[in-house]
Amino acid sequence: MFDPPSHADGRLDAPAFHRNHEPIWSALAPYLADATGHVLEAGSGTGQHVVEFARQSPGLTWWPTDYDAQHLQSIEAWRKHAGLPNIQPARFIDLSAPDWGLDAPDSNALSGLAAILCANVIHIAPWPVAEGLLRDAASRLRADGKLFLYGPFMRGGQHTAPSNEAFDQSLRTRNPAWGVRDIADLEPLAHRCGLSLANSVPMPANNMILMFERKRPA
Ligand SMILES: C[S@@+](CC[C@H](N)C(=O)[O-])C[C@H]1O[C@@H](n2cnc3c(N)ncnc32)[C@H](O)[C@@H]1O
Repeated sequence: MFDPPSHADGRLDAPAFHRNHEPIWSALAPYLADATGHVLEAGSGTGQHVVEFARQSPGLTWWPTDYDAQHLQSIEAWRKHAGLPNIQPARFIDLSAPDWGLDAPDSNALSGLAAILCANVIHIAPWPVAEGLLRDAASRLRADGKLFLYGPFMRGGQHTAPSNEAFDQSLRTRNPAWGVRDIADLEPLAHRCGLSLANSVPMPANNMILMFERKRPA
């Protein structure tokens, strides 16, 4: 998934990070650049995004997570390399588990989140990961909190580009439980969890950022 460590401390490099981090931050910045509070990154991978985004948002404390041991090591290595004060140590998470089991010295930090960011995860994981993510996001976001999902998405059963359809097929060949997710499936799931889709932002290379918020009382 990522290039082999090019650093003795275990820092991995994702080629896509270098192409994507600027457009992703452009979409997040209006909500996060001047915000305060805590942001959980679900499935941080190499840890490069969390370092870049923490640098751009000094008022936020970022909490990187993953379930892969090598990725957790890479996140920690990038965190130490960056030396920023607003990134917490990498935490193990299984997004599909009924209870994420995250502990924090300040117990409010992870139950009143300003945002959750999940980039390039739910298509490279079985559907219960999407279910766990939306369920826990709904219970952990503060009233004005946002859940941002970045990646390729289908709309109403249709791929938005031939390259996404080919990517979907390659994912399903690697693991039949993986695949590009459909907004038509994510929206009803979000509603059942107490969230609603507030915005979808087109991104380069046929990706999108979906922004979910807590549903307002009718
Ligand atoms: C393609 S990588 C994306 C990493 C990073 N967000 C990025 O955009 O570069 C997908 C990540 O999701 C993690 N992941 C997959 N299933 C997971 C699960 N059930 N719980 C937590 N992390 C998971 C993988 O270990 C991997 O680091």
